[in-house]
Amino acid sequence: MNYTLSNGVSIPRIGFGTWQTPDDQTAVDAVKTAFACGYRHIDAAAVYANEKSVGRGIAVGLSELGLKREDIFVTSKVWNTERGYERTLAAFDKTLSDLGLEYLDLYLIHWPAVKKQFPDSWEDLNASTWRALEKLLAEGKVRSIGVSNFYEHHLQSLFARCKVKPMVNQIEYHPGFRQQSVVDFCRSEGILIEAWSPLGRGSVLTNPVMVDIAARLKVSVAQLCVAWCLQNRTLPLPKSVTPSRIAANIQVDFEIPQAQMQAIDNLPECGSSGLNADEIDF
Ligand code: A2P
Repeated sequence: MNYTLSNGVSIPRIGFGTWQTPDDQTAVDAVKTAFACGYRHIDAAAVYANEKSVGRGIAVGLSELGLKREDIFVTSKVWNTERGYERTLAAFDKTLSDLGLEYLDLYLIHWPAVKKQFPDSWEDLNASTWRALEKLLAEGKVRSIGVSNFYEHHLQSLFARCKVKPMVNQIEYHPGFRQQSVVDFCRSEGILIEAWSPLGRGSVLTNPVMVDIAARLKVSVAQLCVAWCLQNRTLPLPKSVTPSRIAANIQVDFEIPQAQMQAIDNLPECGSSGLNADEIDF
């Protein structure tokens, strides 16, 4: 099942995360296993420093399963050291070559440039990075473009300077951390929210409320997290290198009853990375 982005591009509603996956056979095997389990959407990034192995996994996985490039959806992101028009274009070329692909389905600005680090130039810096993404889109080298970790004021600033609005904002989003104001703003602007660390990097998995609801629904807490993201119309990107977990995390064809949805929505903050885009120093 898929979501449709604001430019009409169809995007599989669960993606496979690759952050912290080692740049060796582990990544190759994880991506191959993900395809075999039914994932058709891979979420990569230059800073994960594993795009060559992820790319090998994509190539081997496609060939073993007889899939075509257009059967899958691949995302990557431009890292913070490569901001600006020319550097972003060069970073894109490197990512494309590392992944061994001829185009990407989605390319994102990984983090906004912010006032704390760039007091006078953060808005121009985001705008020039974004202009590079607009060029890649116009040339057909990417099918859609977006941002990651942007708050409303970063987006408003970009809107005032861009031709094409982002189609996606990928943010930290999981039970215990749902950034509702960003989600509401993006929804009102037709921007799809992708959820990074939908399992709270594992730490939400032992939350007693989650454990109790999962037991009652006869699912795992990880499956509950993924289903909760989907029921809140976001796109989860669960990461795992463990075959049984890779398989389980996409088996989410169950409904969370409204009362339990509310109980999860109302969880006090837990499992958050603590990263605030306006405060980051990387
Ligand atoms: P591993 O990759 O060793 O299987 P997130 O996607 O929220 O960042 O969470 C990723 C973390 O959660 C990784 O440490 C991953 O471990 C672990 N994880 C992924 N799926 C499951 C699962 N179904 N049950 C328990 N832990 C999981």
